Amino acid sequence: MDLIIYYSRTENTKKVSESIAKQKNAKLIEIKDKKSRSGVLGYAMGALDSVRGKKTDIIYEKVNLSEYDTIYLGTPVWASKPTPAILQFIDENDFNNTTVVTFATMMGSGGESTVKSMNDKIKAKGGLIKHSFSLALKGNDIEQLVSDALKNE
Ligand SMILES: Cc1cc2nc3c(=O)[nH]c(=O)nc-3n(C[C@H](O)[C@H](O)[C@H](O)COP(=O)(O)O)c2cc1C
Repeated sequence: MDLIIYYSRTENTKKVSESIAKQKNAKLIEIKDKKSRSGVLGYAMGALDSVRGKKTDIIYEKVNLSEYDTIYLGTPVWASKPTPAILQFIDENDFNNTTVVTFATMMGSGGESTVKSMNDKIKAKGGLIKHSFSLALKGNDIEQLVSDALKNE
C-alpha cells in the first residue's frame, strides 16, 4: 500500500494529496503545524521561517514508513523552500528502506528548489527518491494535473 503525507495551509496541497490518494488507493496522513500560520502574520512568519530553514512542532499519526510501498510527501512552496512542518517531519522520521515521491504545490515558481531540498534531506536519511513533481495551481483541474504528474513516475 502507498502512503500520502502532506502539510497544507490553504488546502491546495490537501486537494492534490487527496487526488493522489484516490488515484493510488493510498492511505492519507495530514501533518498539522502547532504554530498558527493563518492570516497575514502567519503568512509573513511562514515565509521568514522557511527562508531560515526553521523547523516547527507538528502533530500527525505516526507510522512505520518502511511498511509502505511508496511514500508521497507533499508541501506547499514557501519562499522557494519546503515548509517548516515538512522539514520537521523529515527530521523526526526514519527513511531507511523507503521509496519516496516528493511533490510541491505553488503559485508559479520555486517548486524545483523545494523538492530538491526535500530530496537531499530524505536521501541523507536513507530514503530512495523515485520521482518528484511540482504543480502550479491557478484554478487548474487538479485531478488532471495529478494524473499527468503520476504518469511520469
Ligand atoms: C509563506 C508563503 C510563501 C510562499 N512562497 C511561494 C513561492 O516562493 N512561490 C510560489 O509559487 N508560491 C508561493 N506561495 C504560494 C503557495 O505555495 C501556494 O499557494 C500553495 O499551493 C499553497 O498550498 P496550500 O494551500 O496547501 O497551503 C507561498 C505561500 C505562503 C503562505
